[in-house]
Amino acid sequence: MTTRQDCLLLDADDPLAALRAQFELPEGTIYLDGNSLGVLPRATAARVQQVITAEWGRDLIKSWNTAGWIDLPQRVGNKIARLVGARDNELVVADSTSVNLFKVLSAAAKIVGQASVGSAPQRRVIVSERTNFPTDLYIAESQCRELGWELELLDADAIGQRLNEDVALLMLTHVNYRTGRMHDMAGLTAQAHAAGVRVVWDLAHSAGAVPVDLHAAQADFAVGCGYKYLNGGPGAPAFVWVHPEHADSFWQPLAGWMGHAAPFEFTPGYRPAPGIARYLCGTPAVLSLAALECGVDTVLAAEPFGGMVALRAKSIALTELFADLIDERCAGSGLSVVSPREAAQRGSQVCLTHAGSEPDSAYAIVQALIARGVIGDFRAGDANADDILRFGFTPLYTRFVDVCDAVEHLRQVMTGGEWREARFNQRAAVT
Ligand SMILES: Cc1ncc(COP(=O)(O)O)c(C=O)c1O
Repeated sequence: MTTRQDCLLLDADDPLAALRAQFELPEGTIYLDGNSLGVLPRATAARVQQVITAEWGRDLIKSWNTAGWIDLPQRVGNKIARLVGARDNELVVADSTSVNLFKVLSAAAKIVGQASVGSAPQRRVIVSERTNFPTDLYIAESQCRELGWELELLDADAIGQRLNEDVALLMLTHVNYRTGRMHDMAGLTAQAHAAGVRVVWDLAHSAGAVPVDLHAAQADFAVGCGYKYLNGGPGAPAFVWVHPEHADSFWQPLAGWMGHAAPFEFTPGYRPAPGIARYLCGTPAVLSLAALECGVDTVLAAEPFGGMVALRAKSIALTELFADLIDERCAGSGLSVVSPREAAQRGSQVCLTHAGSEPDSAYAIVQALIARGVIGDFRAGDANADDILRFGFTPLYTRFVDVCDAVEHLRQVMTGGEWREARFNQRAAVT
C-alpha cells in the first residue's frame, strides 16, 4: 500500500515539481478539476492588468498595431500548435469550441461532398460516440439538419467497424469527457481514411493533457478548449486547426471580416484569407487572449523538463495512484473506477461511479468532498451511462500527496455517511 510518506517522497523526486509555483493555488484546496477549469496562473492578473491600463487605457486603439493585438489569434495559436503536433500558422485561436466545430464540420462536409460527386452511394452520415460531449453532438445534429444527413451515435468499440462508404465524417473527442477513455487517434484516422471518411477531433481534454501529434496521425480537422488544461480562464477562447491540405479548399460558413484576405480594405465582397486565417470570424477577444497566452505559457514552461512527454508520464503516475488508492481505501463503499485502467487508453482524468440505492448519491458525494476542499465534479448519467464523479489531474500543479489526501477525504466522506447530509443534496445550476 502506498503511504502518505511515499507520496511526499514522490513529490520530492518529481522533476516537474517547480512548475506548480506558476499558479495561484488557494490554501487548503486540493484542486482536481483542471479538466473543467484550469487554475489561475500567477502571471495572468498582471498581464491582463497591463493590457487594460497600458495597452487599452493609455495607448488606446494604437495597440491593435503597437501591442500586436491583431496578431494574437495566430501568436497564441502558434504556441498551442507546439502542444498538439501542428506547425506554425496552421492553428488559430477564436470563438468557442462549439462555434469552431460548426465551422470545421461544414468545411469537412463540403470536402466529402466534392470527393463523392458522381459516385454512389452518397455519404450522408456523421458518426460519433454516444457519450461524446453534448455540445459536439448538438452541433453535429444541427449540421445534419442543414444537410439532410444523419448523426449516428455508437459505443466506442463499435466505431471502427461502422466506417464504410455511406459515412461522410467521423467526429470524436479524443479523450472522453465522462470516462477519460482515450481513442487511438492515429489508428482510427487511418481506418477512417481507408474508408474515405474525414475525421474531426475535439481536443478539449487532450491539449496540454496528453501528447497529441495531429500531423503524425494525419488528422483532417481539430478543435479544442482554452480553459481546461491550457489554463486560459473561464470562457477562454478555443482553437481550430485544419490540415494544410484542406485549409484553402472551402469557405468556412462564418465568413466574418477577420477571416477575409484583407479585412482593412473594407471591400464589399468576401475573399477568404489563405490558410487557417479564414477560420477567424470577428474581432479577437483581446483580454481573454492575453489571459489564454499566460495559461498556454504555463504548459510550454514544461518544455525544458521534457514537455508533454514528461507531463504525460506524471499524469499517468497520478491517475494510476488515484485509481489504486480508491481500490485500496474505498473498498466496500460502492465506489468504483470506470476510467480505463490501462494507461494508454486513459487521458488525464479518473472517473468513479457509486453503486447505491440513493439516486443522487454521486452528486452528493462530490458536494461533500468540495466542502472539505477537494474539488472534483459530477456529470449526470442517463439511460446509457451512469452518474459519475470526475477527477482531473493536471500534472503541472497536482502533487502526489494531493492525490493521497483527496482519497483519504473521500474515504472519510464514505465511511461516515457524511454525503447523506441534506446540504449536499441540493443541486446547483452548474455541477
Ligand atoms: C469535449 C468538449 N467539447 C466542447 C466543450 C465546450 O465547448 P464550448 O467551449 O463551446 O463551451 C467541452 C466542455 O467541457 C468539452 O468537454
